[in-house]
Amino acid sequence: MSVAKPLPHDSARLHVTGQARYLDDLPEPKGCLHLAFGLSTEASAEITEIDLTEVLASEGVITVLTAADIPGENDASTNRGWHEPLLAEGEVHYIGQPVFIVVATSHRLARIAARRARITYAPRAPILTIDQAIARESWYEGGPIIWENTDPTEALAQAAFTAHGSIEIGGQEHFYLEGQAAMAEPQDQGMILRVSSQHPTEVQHKVAEALGLHMHDVRIEMRRMGGGFGGKESQSNQPAIACAVAAHVTGRACKMRYDRDDDMTITGKRHDFRVDYQIGADADGRITGAILRQFARCGWSMDLSLPVCDRAMLHADAAYHIPALRVESLRLRTNTQSNTAYRGFGGPQGILGTEAAIEHLAQVMGLDPLDLRRRNYYPEMGQDPAPTHYGQPVEDSILQALTDSLTTRADFTTRQKAVAEWNAANPVLKKGIALAPVKFGISFTLSHLNQAGALVHVYQDGTVRLNHGGTEMGQGLHIKVCQVAAKVFGLPLSQIRISATDTDKVPNTSATAASSGADLNGMAVKAACDTIRDRIAGFLAQREGCPPDAVRFEDGFITAGTYRGTFAEVITAAYEARISLSSTGYYATPEISWDRTTGTGHPFYYFAYGVSIAEVVIDRHTGENRILRADILHDAGASLNPAIDQGQVEGGFVQGAGWLTTEELVWDDKGALRTHAPSTYKIPACSDRPRIFNVDLWDQPNRKETIYRSKAVGEPPFVHGNAVFFALQNAVAACGPDWPALRAPATPEAILEAIARAEGTA
Ligand code: MTE
Ligand code: MOS
Repeated sequence: MSVAKPLPHDSARLHVTGQARYLDDLPEPKGCLHLAFGLSTEASAEITEIDLTEVLASEGVITVLTAADIPGENDASTNRGWHEPLLAEGEVHYIGQPVFIVVATSHRLARIAARRARITYAPRAPILTIDQAIARESWYEGGPIIWENTDPTEALAQAAFTAHGSIEIGGQEHFYLEGQAAMAEPQDQGMILRVSSQHPTEVQHKVAEALGLHMHDVRIEMRRMGGGFGGKESQSNQPAIACAVAAHVTGRACKMRYDRDDDMTITGKRHDFRVDYQIGADADGRITGAILRQFARCGWSMDLSLPVCDRAMLHADAAYHIPALRVESLRLRTNTQSNTAYRGFGGPQGILGTEAAIEHLAQVMGLDPLDLRRRNYYPEMGQDPAPTHYGQPVEDSILQALTDSLTTRADFTTRQKAVAEWNAANPVLKKGIALAPVKFGISFTLSHLNQAGALVHVYQDGTVRLNHGGTEMGQGLHIKVCQVAAKVFGLPLSQIRISATDTDKVPNTSATAASSGADLNGMAVKAACDTIRDRIAGFLAQREGCPPDAVRFEDGFITAGTYRGTFAEVITAAYEARISLSSTGYYATPEISWDRTTGTGHPFYYFAYGVSIAEVVIDRHTGENRILRADILHDAGASLNPAIDQGQVEGGFVQGAGWLTTEELVWDDKGALRTHAPSTYKIPACSDRPRIFNVDLWDQPNRKETIYRSKAVGEPPFVHGNAVFFALQNAVAACGPDWPALRAPATPEAILEAIARAEGTA
């Protein structure tokens, strides 16, 4: 009853009326102090002297902390064994690196004081770009990571058609509306923190390490984030640790929130990539081999770059069976922000690189790109599956069916002709249209992260309060999980409440990431609810003299034999009969395994699919452009909540299109990020949405036993933005015969450069 319903987000009303409380809206504890970081102004340098006298003398300043003041570990890294200092230790690695913490009586006074430091640097030549990093052999993991199924050299040599080239792919700022924030309050023993984080358990772990405490001394509470998008998976550690250390030193509550400019300057972004490709096909347009070399700019520290780049490699097949595929990945260390998780976690970059190669190959062959794509999609579900380059067979592809359905709904062929006619008649405004497929692997690639816990309480009056390890960032995880509990107990949603994510209630959680929030936590909550329901059924069956499986939970009532009572009546009776009405629940994803050293295994429980069609127009003289129409068909399995899922698909598409069009990050040659505010960094506005925007869900059950056969939906739709990029390139291609090699983001400048290449006038 309650699953599969298009219910509004549980906080929708609060969000739009401004009543939803974010961290900065919470009442501050008495005497709360405020923090600001003092930031490095050099991209690579040794610190020769730090003079903080003026900072200390600045109005409202209580104290200033440097690395030496941290009682435990000065480390914010996501991995044991990697050292990523929270505060600089004698040297700095990027402009914006935190060097010291100002603790003051207000946010404003802390920020003013932070600028008064006198730091003397002995600068070194920074490594800023992908090319500089390659030239200086500045990379992690000792060199390239290489995975292949079959050596493609022979296939490429024999191929009837080949394409080789390169695509540059820019990074992306998360631009969560709520910036990074944390607040710490010392307790009798240990510390309690309220944070804006996708990963409360990791914050707990890092705070404990920084204070020289144990995990049981630190409690993290997280009600909601104003967006995370991956940017609060690891990089919410820094403000939390800073607050905990300052609270420990001063004995007072401490709070920190990054100003927008600071947030953009300090935190890492989506990894920018360059992908060099060689791809070959036989005379029938069957891809026979490919080599993809992915260069990723990781920034000054590892952070999550290892799994991000792994996922880029795992998605280098995009939607296609490539029998001989070699993927190389070079993880470059640069003197820039430490790039991190961002919706798709490297997958979008991996897919875009390969799709660019496919488009190029189609141009070489004089074939419609859609035709080439369809000839190479993985075999459809039900046919003999083909293996990916990492060995996992693709058994659930529905891309042919999705493509059939969407091309019909969106009238693709007719519109392709109309675009060609338009372009023949119009010398200045050129149109383009393209279809992009999505195949996205679901599960954390680090297999042990695929587990979740829950805690469910039923109170004497028949109301339910539940907790799980997932975090709410706007994606609608809580409403979905409440729907699961409502379904198990046969209750209206109004009887279910979810409370803040809390490490005291559900321990050892994974980050809410990899789109698996509902898959994992939904199952854990279901397990807990099932346990309680079975106890109630057992109690009632005995009392009424019927078998337990004859007890029904429906519409707020429980029936057993001839008995029918409200849920609340039965719960009161069960309580008086001393039946436990509280339970934990646990879930671990089955069937998955992965060996990253050999690049083989079964890392994904299943794949999520989709297709999108975008039509655009460009101005040949200025490079200005617009999305005229977008049509999307997306596979959410048997959707838990079609309204939420449709919102995820729309938002994912817009965010993906923003990444590939307007969102451009620019660093100067000293390594300073120049686009550190919305004045210069352009996320899509409402007016940038397609004039015609049709989004539909492919509402077929997941073949795997996921929570009510739904599919994860958070990240995969981000990839639909590719349709916009290739439609733009298609429009550019109408300007001349040569390969345009459009770069991402396709800003007006990039489009003009590509037009010149297409015309052969570059
Ligand atoms: N949707 C909103 N509104 N806000 C967000 O921050 N993050 C995305 C996606 N959708 C995000 C979002 C990312 S990066 C992920 S991994 C998933 O949501 C996480 O939530 P889920 O696993 O519950 O889908
Ligand atoms: Mo999402 S990038 O996995 O937080």
